[in-house]
Amino acid sequence: MINYRQVLLPAIAMHLPLDEAQVAELIEIPPNPDMGDFAFPCFRLSKEMGKPSPAIAKDLAAAITAEGLPTGFGAVEAVGPFVNFRVDAARRAADVLGAVLGKAADYGTGNEGAGKTVVIDYSSPNIAKPFGIGHLRSTVIGGALYRIHKALGWKAVGINHLGDWGTQFGKLITAFLLWGEGKPEEQSIDDLYKLYVRFHTDTPPELEEEARRWHKRMEDGDEEALTLWRGFRDASLEEFRRIYAILGIEFDSWAGESFYLDKLDGAIERAIAAGVTKEDAGALIVDFEDDALGVWLLRKSDGATLYSTRDLAAALYRWDEYHFDKLLYVVGAPQARHLAQLFETLRRMGMAWWDRCEHVGFGHIHGMSSRQGTLVFLEDVLNRATELVSQVMAERNPDLDDRDEVSRQVGVGAIVFADLSRRRIRDYNFSWDEILNFDGETGPYVQYTHARLCSILRKWGQPVPGAYDPALLGTPEEAACVRTLERFPEVIRQAADEAEPHLVANYLIEVSTVANSFYQRHRVMDAGDDALVASRIVLVDALRQVLVNGLSLLGVAAPERM
Ligand code: ARG
Repeated sequence: MINYRQVLLPAIAMHLPLDEAQVAELIEIPPNPDMGDFAFPCFRLSKEMGKPSPAIAKDLAAAITAEGLPTGFGAVEAVGPFVNFRVDAARRAADVLGAVLGKAADYGTGNEGAGKTVVIDYSSPNIAKPFGIGHLRSTVIGGALYRIHKALGWKAVGINHLGDWGTQFGKLITAFLLWGEGKPEEQSIDDLYKLYVRFHTDTPPELEEEARRWHKRMEDGDEEALTLWRGFRDASLEEFRRIYAILGIEFDSWAGESFYLDKLDGAIERAIAAGVTKEDAGALIVDFEDDALGVWLLRKSDGATLYSTRDLAAALYRWDEYHFDKLLYVVGAPQARHLAQLFETLRRMGMAWWDRCEHVGFGHIHGMSSRQGTLVFLEDVLNRATELVSQVMAERNPDLDDRDEVSRQVGVGAIVFADLSRRRIRDYNFSWDEILNFDGETGPYVQYTHARLCSILRKWGQPVPGAYDPALLGTPEEAACVRTLERFPEVIRQAADEAEPHLVANYLIEVSTVANSFYQRHRVMDAGDDALVASRIVLVDALRQVLVNGLSLLGVAAPERM
């Protein structure tokens, strides 16, 4: 496909006292496509060239036309102080549709990541607690970034940095031995969570002491403590795996906090040797002497290590193991300071790669009610979404064969899409009406658009035509579809650069919108002329393909009927 903007730069610059970079800064995309695909304003040149800008525009248009129109362009014309450029629409349609249908599931992918590695730390829930809605965000944003990078040829390493170590397990062991029933590994997360909540609601101080002792025993490698802990861990993982299966999430590594136990001393020694730490009342800290960063505690005065110690060890280990080009931490905004402290410590330790680490933060979801405590259970939310969609489907499409399966795909898709469809750093208010609205900017809207396109192709009932006439796709709605489809590869690239999956989600809304206005305005199968029908079928298939490709990057299913 042609990079039109790139083609224009030299074609314009050669006639003006400007270089290509300066031209690039001036070039505009007119708000109304009737005015052309690109516009070059000449006002700024008037002084320097000693001519009124309309005259500059007129001469420039003539000079460019005299050279022969730039590749891929159909018209160049001066309108007042602007030169407007119009792309050759038929050629563009042929290029874009050819690329989409030719590459099919690979359309949009690239290879700029070839030879590069991105490590993504995402999901990373705390075991022995239910998978809360808070970890949903990390899971789906991280999962999308993982697929987006892979699509661009990166080697992606997905790491689930499980919160499977720390003082809370001392509390859990204490509570379990007092009030628990059955074996540790037979506990459901619900059971474990109830123990945890009970510990926190009626705890006499001597239990806190007991919990500290158990935690110490874990740290000292005491077999009895570790067996209990392992049981809880296994019970949790079983439940998490079920949720990951529903969400279609995968990891290459499950190295959680406990994985780093035997690497903590080494990490601490390296920090000390680098001279970045100091003793403070028996504890080991990094004092940044900076108000924003404060101090970072690496070892308590009783010798216990912390979340921070394990993150330091993890970063050092990941570098040795993967030599990454990027290390992304998909973690909520409240941990911004912790991660800034980590990165700054790495920098002070002389790790030249410290600036390859990036906090991919995200905001909070408000407005979900909870079953117990303050934690919202993700599984409840996914089940509720499925139920609500199933009710809608019963009305909209009572004859649907696999309503249960489709309801799950649409219900789960709605939750995931809602999470991915806005800038991640924003907080958002969760509303069932909003996320399930088939006509809103939602997952169901995109999925439904996809299903409509599939239904047109089913009615067509033949292979998508190989030969068609792109020149026939000349209406504004069709041209808008082509222009939108053309942008997909660029959108994926930008989403990876900015670590913003919402760019893909928003793009899919745009594709759905142009697709809807296209088939609401124009007949496809009974368009009359055979060549026109064939051309529109090709367009329908290309729109369908891009929706499938985009949804799959986000981890959202694309049912063919709904
Ligand atoms: N388990 C942590 C939490 O739930 C998130 C871990 C994020 N990753 C990391 N390397 N710190 O808050």
